[in-house]
Amino acid sequence: MNDGADETDLAIVLGTRPEIIKLAPILRECLRTETEFTLVHTGQHYSDSLDSVFFDRLELPDPDYNLGVGSGSHAEQTGEMLIEVGRVLERESPEVVLVQGDTNSVLAGALATSKLDAKLGHVEAGLRSFDREMPEETNRVIADHVADYLFAPTEESKENLLREGIPESRVTVTGNTVVDALYRNREIARRKSTVLSDHGLEGREYFLMTVHRAENVDEESRFRKILEGADRAAARHSVEIIYPIHPRARDRLDRFGIDVSDRIRLVEPLDYLDFLRLEASASVILTDSGGVQEEACVLGVPCVTMRDSTERPETVSVGANRLSSCDPDRIVRTVGEMLRTDLDWENPFGDGTAGERILREVAPQTERVRQ
Ligand code: UD1
Ligand code: UDP
Repeated sequence: MNDGADETDLAIVLGTRPEIIKLAPILRECLRTETEFTLVHTGQHYSDSLDSVFFDRLELPDPDYNLGVGSGSHAEQTGEMLIEVGRVLERESPEVVLVQGDTNSVLAGALATSKLDAKLGHVEAGLRSFDREMPEETNRVIADHVADYLFAPTEESKENLLREGIPESRVTVTGNTVVDALYRNREIARRKSTVLSDHGLEGREYFLMTVHRAENVDEESRFRKILEGADRAAARHSVEIIYPIHPRARDRLDRFGIDVSDRIRLVEPLDYLDFLRLEASASVILTDSGGVQEEACVLGVPCVTMRDSTERPETVSVGANRLSSCDPDRIVRTVGEMLRTDLDWENPFGDGTAGERILREVAPQTERVRQ
């Protein structure tokens, strides 16, 4: 954390729920090693349930700057973040800036850094869905190509980078910080979370679902098909689906006037501990989230990804995840297959020390580190 006395050598830029969760292990490592940093929040996510609840639960320091950019078109949101992040970085003149993932906050943080005399570290580099229709794909490709340090979670993501001509010397395979966060919190979640009893789920079989990606919820017919497939799968197995609904999806449901079946229980977005607990006890997880695909895989819970592609192919190749697209028949069939699958896959995302490795890699570039 920056005490405001003077400039720090490391800046960390974040803006959304998954970035807070996946950067938490690096922030905690900074605190442990007394590495000073400036924490910049773009304000892309601002609702308590997507933002402050994670700072509380993960015991993270408040951001030094909250740029309050909020929602808007891609161009407005990204443009405003670019200007505001650029101003902060000029003022703080860090040696190294870290961003994580593939959101518009990452794109803005990466571009702003690339215009200045600072090095960029991209955490979770090299993921590719090979689908340029998704805004996240463009964001991650651009961030990778302007980054100086590329922290690839797996050998497969490293290969993607090398194929695009990125020099090997810039790439370090670290595992994914999602594992660090999960290992640190799953036991705490088991002890502290009362989510199962609060929702009457103790000892009951249920499916967990998250659907929020623009390509799935912004188009009415696609969103309806996904809900139909999920509902039919739940009916076939006589279970209920718990759906903590992201505000984007809630907005689209209301706008399209979709009535959700009684078998799908909509709940508010959950804090990380409650969500981890629900994931760990679910029979199957249906999702379009990146982070949730990884967490299901690490927790040993079978996953059905309701998309046409995934930038997490490791989850599929180890047998933890299958793509169902948004076709209702395929969703029902894939859920059935995943319920029958063996649960003995290996976690491909590392040993939970990614945060430590990443900070060790960038720390020599920064001066104010106690070795
Ligand atoms: C963004 C990311 C997506 C990521 C997701 C994580 C981009 C292009 N997309 O999508 O990759 O999976 O975050 O959750 O960066 N809203 C609120 N409260 C908030 C934030 C948003 O109500 O705190 C609502 C607003 O109606 C807003 C909509 O959600 O218009 C979408 O928000 P936005 O930040 O544009 O994208 P996400 O769908 O959250
Ligand atoms: N998550 C959460 N509460 C919820 C839904 C998700 O804490 O109600 C966490 C989940 O554990 C994962 C992250 O949010 O770590 C995934 O974020 P999201 O699905 O919003 O974004 P994506 O990973 O698709 O970019």
